[in-house]
Amino acid sequence: MIAKRRGAVINLSSTAAFQPLAYTTLYAATKSLVTSFSMALAEEVRPYGLRVVTLCPGGTRTNFFQASQYGTRDFKIPGGMQSPHEVVEAALTKLDRGGGLVICGWFNRVSVFSQRLAPRALVARLAARVFKV
Ligand SMILES: NC(=O)c1ccc[n+]([C@@H]2O[C@H](COP(=O)([O-])OP(=O)(O)OC[C@H]3O[C@@H](n4cnc5c(N)ncnc54)[C@H](OP(=O)(O)O)[C@@H]3O)[C@@H](O)[C@H]2O)c1
Repeated sequence: MIAKRRGAVINLSSTAAFQPLAYTTLYAATKSLVTSFSMALAEEVRPYGLRVVTLCPGGTRTNFFQASQYGTRDFKIPGGMQSPHEVVEAALTKLDRGGGLVICGWFNRVSVFSQRLAPRALVARLAARVFKV
């Protein structure tokens, strides 16, 4: 892509990237890595005209939760679930605009922003209550 000075990448991260999540500990940590990696990569390849989208959906109606340790349990995601269509649309819109970080859905954007103003230990404690298996 760099040689051709043409191309785009969408890295699929998650709102799980923005706070420690007890009970889904490693998943959240790997999503922090994806977000950090992807946003740094975006800056490295920007001079070559390449676009990178760092896509951070919140709860999305896929097979994800059924396949996870939460199984078919009635798991209430704060802010509710989005459709895969909404998430893909947000990613492609961002790509059209040159790439960048996308946090899908207004509730998730407010939540991620407000967590930056709170003590990290408090955020970790509250998140643990939501994600307790
Ligand atoms: N759903 C959400 O609430 C949510 C929120 C934020 C981020 N995400 C992210 O979205 C991405 C896709 O998840 P999803 O929601 O679409 O979940 P999903 O419905 O469970 O789909 C996961 C997909 O990954 C494939 N897969 C799993 N392990 C694999 C492996 N080792 N090698 C190759 N493919 C593998 C599965 O293939 P098989 O069907 O063949 O097993 C399936 O197609 C994940 O990165 C997830 O972290 C999801």
